[in-house]
Amino acid sequence: MNSRQTIQEIIAKKKKGERIVMLTAYDYPLAKIIDQCGIDIILVGDSLANVVLGLKSTREVGMEVMLHHTKAVNRGVEHALLVGDMPYEAYQIKPEFAVKNAKRFVEEAGCNAVKLEWFDRCLDVAQDIIRAGIPVMGHVGLTPQNAERLGGMKLQGKDASSAQKIIDNAQALEKVGCFSIVLECIPDKIAEIITRKLKIPTIGIGAGPACDGQVLVTHDLLGLFDWYQPKFAKQYVKLNEIIGKAVTQFREEVRHKDFPSAQYTFTIKPQEFKKFKINK
Ligand code: KIV
Repeated sequence: MNSRQTIQEIIAKKKKGERIVMLTAYDYPLAKIIDQCGIDIILVGDSLANVVLGLKSTREVGMEVMLHHTKAVNRGVEHALLVGDMPYEAYQIKPEFAVKNAKRFVEEAGCNAVKLEWFDRCLDVAQDIIRAGIPVMGHVGLTPQNAERLGGMKLQGKDASSAQKIIDNAQALEKVGCFSIVLECIPDKIAEIITRKLKIPTIGIGAGPACDGQVLVTHDLLGLFDWYQPKFAKQYVKLNEIIGKAVTQFREEVRHKDFPSAQYTFTIKPQEFKKFKINK
């Protein structure tokens, strides 16, 4: 825990021109693997709802489930900054509970910061959480918790006025003290303008190469979730195929009585076994 990246180190990377690398994790083994690869920030994203729980909307995941997974991730993270994604119910239904819920991510689940998606009372909520001493990462552009209102899981900021709103929102989040901002699914040139205007780092997902860092949903990167694949979700490996092969091989070995072979079997010494038979 003590050797985790700090907020100051993350911000300093922008000044030094070093790219920030962020990934999601939802459980202990993947968190440990990702952390040991030297990833800067691990986000327990509410994308958990889609890629782990098979739910349609991220709104369907609540505080208890997010905390349950975040605690598991926390046990696997030594070096990365750990960010908890505040679920919709934690701050958008009753913003007055936002600080209490943000504190639960830090005190119960070991997070170093929380992330909030933009909504109409986002600035007040972010400010309250920051004043309570908890660092906040903002999130503008496509904000899946309000995807329905944004016309679905689509590119945002396509026209000048909506692009301007995204730029204004990002600047306002910086002003209230956010330490970084996720830019999701916006045109590259708009992301570039935001990145230039802000002193805090921008972390893009579907926002082009000019951002100060990049984030992907780990299950997309690993090819574990290919039922819905946005254009920006680069698949670095097809783990679904590799897992499918292994499971099929196991099925066949069991059916053909090839598994377990001697290598995977425990034995008892013959003299002991003899006694056992005699006693019987
Ligand atoms: O929930 C999530 O995984 C996210 C990332 C896409 C940034 O918010």
